[in-house]
Amino acid sequence: MIIAVPKEILPGENRVAAVPDVVSKLIKAGFEVTIEKDAGLNAGFTDDNYMKHGAKIIQNVVELYAGADIVLKVQRPIEHPQLNKHELDLLKEGTLLITFLYPLFHLELAKKCAEKGINVISMDMIPRTTLAQKMDALSSQANLAGYKSVLMAANHLGKIFPLMMTAAGTISPAKVVIMGAGVAGLQALGTAKRLGAVVEVSDIRPAVKEEVQSLGGRFIEVETDENMQDAGGYAKEASPEFLRKQKEVIFKHVTEADIVITTALIPGKKSPILVTEEMVKNMRPGSVVLDMATEFGGNCEISEKGKTVKKYGVTIIGEPNIPSLVATHASEMYSKNVLNLLTHISNAGQVELKLDDEIVKGSLITYKKEVVNQRVKDLIK
Ligand code: NAI
Repeated sequence: MIIAVPKEILPGENRVAAVPDVVSKLIKAGFEVTIEKDAGLNAGFTDDNYMKHGAKIIQNVVELYAGADIVLKVQRPIEHPQLNKHELDLLKEGTLLITFLYPLFHLELAKKCAEKGINVISMDMIPRTTLAQKMDALSSQANLAGYKSVLMAANHLGKIFPLMMTAAGTISPAKVVIMGAGVAGLQALGTAKRLGAVVEVSDIRPAVKEEVQSLGGRFIEVETDENMQDAGGYAKEASPEFLRKQKEVIFKHVTEADIVITTALIPGKKSPILVTEEMVKNMRPGSVVLDMATEFGGNCEISEKGKTVKKYGVTIIGEPNIPSLVATHASEMYSKNVLNLLTHISNAGQVELKLDDEIVKGSLITYKKEVVNQRVKDLIK
């Protein structure tokens, strides 16, 4: 089968879905690989490098897509700015598209993929199970984003992180508050600690308290009798009563922080508002809020997606695509996740989708002109 890797066209996206090293592994597994000219350049991978690893470079994206049995992408398909055509219209019926579709938030797009007969595996829907861990692209990207978020916030702060005792006086350590101790939050915690900050973390799942403490963070307790975790270990949507109580508890912590990083997520739901305008008003001027959740509504009431703004003297960063800012490593990790998925669903260069396989069941969105994923179907009804 022929795999095609186009250049990403969503503004600000620097990643590429397959790096040269992964290309040679795909070829070894029996696939042919075609790459659009300059597809990897923004992530640091040249056409020459791809050719050395056995890929064929194709200049024309129409030709690239027309010849593909499988298309590997990072971002969901959109209107192609140069061609005035939707990327989906360039694919032939029966093509397997592997990308971050986020179908729970883009139902119309999922339906359009089904109508066009494009079979889609969505990388954000890979179940977070032990078997699927090596394909878990949400985690690989969130991990990098958690690290980078601390550096971005630090760059906007007029202070340094560590305690410093000097002849010119003592500098006390910066205080960082992290909301949400999932993959991104724990990596942000580790990074901020390494830079010397004092770090406090809030999460609705009491189970993460030990992890936070083992990384040197202080856990902010919100007392509750509610069960905040589902059978799979994911956060459940908190009740309005809990969120009210949580806001009361975190008010003091947030308003005393130099940096607040928010990473709170309930899978498939709009992000909860945790940092209110009132809290920002009460923060010290010069402090920084980095809201990682702006793609799905945001955790800070006054953050703006894609913008860094100053309100009440506080810098509020709403960058929705942090992995793209570390595109080399993000592409390497994403393409490894995709390679592991392809290895799982193929044999000798031929994809064979087994619809009862747990990983396929969780992540296959459309198949043979139908939306087949139960979670997506439930939302379309
Ligand atoms: P995750 O599911 O591993 O962690 C989310 C955490 O938030 C969980 O521990 C959950 O218990 C917690 N949470 C839920 N409601 C909460 C509340 N009310 N208060 C405190 N904690 C709460 O998710 P992951 O992979 O760490 O991603 C976190 C967020 O970052 C997501 O919104 C994701 O979309 C976003 N993200 C943004 C990126 C960017 O470039 N801006 C890149 C990667 C992820």
